[in-house]
Amino acid sequence: MQYIMKGGNPLVGEVVISGAKNAALGILAAAIMTDEPVLIENLPDVQDIRVLLRAMSEIGVIVEWVDGHTIKINGGNIHTVRVENAYIRKIRAGYYLLGALLGKYRHAEVALPGGCNIGSRPIDQHLKGFRALNAQVDVQHGCVLADAKQLQGGHVYLDMVSVGATINVMLAAVLALGNTTIENAAKEPHVVDVANMLNSMGANIKGAGTDVIRIRGVERLHGTEYTIIPDQIEAGTFMFAAAVTRGDVMVKNVIPKHMEAISSKLLEMGCEVSEFDDTIRVVGKPHLRSCNVKTLPYPGFPTDMQPQMCVTLTLAGGTGIVTESIFENRFKYVDELTKMGAQIKVEGNVAVIDGVSRLTGADLVAPDLRAGAALVLAGLTAEGVTTVDNIEYILRGYENFEKKLQSLGAMIEVVTDEREAKKFRLRVG
Ligand code: UD1
Repeated sequence: MQYIMKGGNPLVGEVVISGAKNAALGILAAAIMTDEPVLIENLPDVQDIRVLLRAMSEIGVIVEWVDGHTIKINGGNIHTVRVENAYIRKIRAGYYLLGALLGKYRHAEVALPGGCNIGSRPIDQHLKGFRALNAQVDVQHGCVLADAKQLQGGHVYLDMVSVGATINVMLAAVLALGNTTIENAAKEPHVVDVANMLNSMGANIKGAGTDVIRIRGVERLHGTEYTIIPDQIEAGTFMFAAAVTRGDVMVKNVIPKHMEAISSKLLEMGCEVSEFDDTIRVVGKPHLRSCNVKTLPYPGFPTDMQPQMCVTLTLAGGTGIVTESIFENRFKYVDELTKMGAQIKVEGNVAVIDGVSRLTGADLVAPDLRAGAALVLAGLTAEGVTTVDNIEYILRGYENFEKKLQSLGAMIEVVTDEREAKKFRLRVG
């Protein structure tokens, strides 16, 4: 499947942001830690979520869709703690089932995670955390095996700020005996969301959103109803889409506080950014200024927005320097942008971007989820027609991406073969 698009239309109008994928993945794992039903609202309907739900169904979790964004989950019938089906290896967040099952059943066997190829992505900190809770952890035949006679609260210092390790250790620790402290914890909004959800199930977690999280273990968790926060990265992607196409977009259902790093960079580049209660308006200007950006853990500039930022800088005046400090292999899309006339030099984890006055349409391949979305933004500003192949990556994390873009005036479609692509080309002239 490909996206095909004709660039040039400024994006104008309103777009409603879906629930946060990365929060949802942790929350779904948390939901199976009780035998009582859990209702989850504002679930994004994206492929990563469907894959995790599928993997959970296979171990006996009952999943019932109430509507397109609401599900009822019941983890009372789980018949195995071995999650090794074909689905789970496709996504990153399968690893949350380790923390959830270890916490609930004291034993878990989960296939090592897949996900985007943006670096080596080890999970040593997750495993170190489980060991600190008195679990034996082994990796055998591509599976992580974790086992504890008694999960015991402990002290976990994370060597680097890791979203995944923070959530995973938190999941296991809520049902451990005694107190756990996670130091150097990730502070991302989705860490806070998973903690809030667990607390609504009867957990006792304090400090989520700071770098020290304290957890007092409880004996059991109960059912709850919980609404997932809006997706910071989807919102950021549409904010950059407004900027780069010189459009005017009301990005609705967001938490403006979560968007500060992104809003401040857009302001620095000369965009107009106005904040309302749960909406941000971004107006792109004909002449954007370059800026320098370094990706950092929250509240720094998110690594998942780095490719969208680079695309915007390719069309800004002057030279911008982007430093990627979280993942070592996250500039693979730069070769694709070069095909469109972008001027970017990458050395190690630094990209130096000289702004050009225009990009031209080309046939591109999405190398991963966020870079794929960024290439779409590039195509929407470029002269002529652009195709982006491998959009399966993009569908993992963006709900109705092309429909939301179309509603803002973008000329973009999904095509499955050359005939459909030809029709599009004829139609747009
Ligand atoms: C999550 C997000 C991903 C986002 C990233 C950083 C999900 C499903 N994915 O990924 O979209 O880009 O946070 O905001 O939520 N590290 C280790 N050992 C570990 C764990 C991490 O060395 O055990 C390193 C990683 O290689 C990376 C850094 O720590 O350099 C941060 O990774 P982490 O925050 O864990 O990212 P993920 O949870 O995989």
